[in-house]
Amino acid sequence: MDCEALRGFQARLLRWFRTHGRDLPWRKTRDPYRILVSEVMLQQTQVDRVRRYYQRFVRQYPTVRDLATAHPARVREAWEGLGYYARARNLHAAAREVARRHGGRFPRRLAEVMALPGVGRYTAGAVMSFAYGEPAPVLDTNVRRLLSRVFVRRRPASPARLDRRLWALAKAAIPHRHVWAFNQALMDFGATVCTARSPKCGICPMREICVNYGRTSGAPTHSAEDES
Ligand code: ADE
Repeated sequence: MDCEALRGFQARLLRWFRTHGRDLPWRKTRDPYRILVSEVMLQQTQVDRVRRYYQRFVRQYPTVRDLATAHPARVREAWEGLGYYARARNLHAAAREVARRHGGRFPRRLAEVMALPGVGRYTAGAVMSFAYGEPAPVLDTNVRRLLSRVFVRRRPASPARLDRRLWALAKAAIPHRHVWAFNQALMDFGATVCTARSPKCGICPMREICVNYGRTSGAPTHSAEDES
């Protein structure tokens, strides 16, 4: 892994984030429960839509204990309109598990967070880095596309290999300081600059380090999904 390129990437991304980072309600908290709520909502729903639902949901269920003791029908109502109701059921089950297994205190270790219903590697990484400042990678569709464009010139032979490479990159790229800002910045940069269909290469601060900058066909490794 090219350490100099990673350092250049970190510095550029953090600088960009200072002026272009989005002001989002779930960025005002370090409460792992609230961060989990936002990340579960964001799994399949656009940022603008999640804003309103998130604010209402955490007003209705301000703590993990409140959600744990809620009636399933009320939780479903609070989710009404967001779709993919399995997410709400899993989130509710996760809250009950925190109450039952962890005495109502949100777990602090990656393996424990990942063991909660509906929580995969990405969501667990988001909770660990946004709530606790732990250097856990967050590799969602936007971040995958961003990292593969900037760092991957040739697509590895298999999807599994590409997957390993990108998780390793997402981990290695995290700076010692500013973990929270760095991971949030990855999301914003992927959603607003290094977008799927019309990346803004002309104004991109990664131009000098992006291995795919100026290649007419773009990076070979991304799909045209997910911009939120
Ligand atoms: N998508 C998933 N998590 C996000 C976050 N924390 N900020 C913006 N978009 C996101």
